[in-house]
Amino acid sequence: MKGIILAGGTGTRLKPLTTIINKHLLPVGPYPMIYWPIIKLKEAGITEILLVINGADQEMFETLLGDGRNLGVNLSFAHQKGPNGIADGIGSGRNFVGKKKFIVILGDNLFEDSLVSYIESFRLQEKGAKVLLKQVDDPQRYGIAELDTEKKIITSIEEKPIHPKSNLCAVGIYMYDSSVFEYIDSTVPSGRGELEITDVNNMYIKNDQLSYDFLNGWWIDAGTHKSLYTANSFYYCNNREGNNE
Ligand code: TTP
Repeated sequence: MKGIILAGGTGTRLKPLTTIINKHLLPVGPYPMIYWPIIKLKEAGITEILLVINGADQEMFETLLGDGRNLGVNLSFAHQKGPNGIADGIGSGRNFVGKKKFIVILGDNLFEDSLVSYIESFRLQEKGAKVLLKQVDDPQRYGIAELDTEKKIITSIEEKPIHPKSNLCAVGIYMYDSSVFEYIDSTVPSGRGELEITDVNNMYIKNDQLSYDFLNGWWIDAGTHKSLYTANSFYYCNNREGNNE
């Protein structure tokens, strides 16, 4: 399986830190943020990785990461034309993944769990997609899943709901088969002008092809000043890997 990491976007909520530097190059523990999703994929045996970035950031990412060999992976880059949404960013990986299943990580999503068991269960899934769910305190900020617990299926995912039907957020780790590209092609920009990954995931739900697992360890979307601080504190206080002085 191959991996895609999204590292584009605008990072508006982290301004002024992100005025001259891409969010994914900011420090988290001893490393730039982008190291962590690469390390997670590498640990799960995924070494063919595409970084989707804004074209203007290519030189910085290349200076930092080169072709990935120092981190034990084979990195390539794709440019997203503009911050047109997560689904649009994934669409930039079409040629890279071809017809195979793949995993996507949003570059600002930091987490404790190993991906091995989730990837293994997705390998066994004949087709479709898988999302990972995590309980959150502030469901209005995320894509929130409604479950049918008897049938063990997701019945819907709602993006930033005003009246959330649960507190289960679909985190920024997604697994897809190649039909995702047809679904992306049939999405239209939302009110905020983005191709929403929630719309794509709801298309899988309609076709009874979206499975889920629960993420067990800590998980942080490090897109705000406070959550970036929390992510740093996790790496320095709780995470063995990040605990180097
Ligand atoms: P967001 O945090 O939703 O967007 P952002 O990074 O632009 O930040 P802000 O909302 O503060 O302006 O993005 C989630 C992740 O997805 C993040 O790692 C960046 C990535 N992303 C892309 O690669 N391309 C995109 O078009 C968008 C919207 C996000």
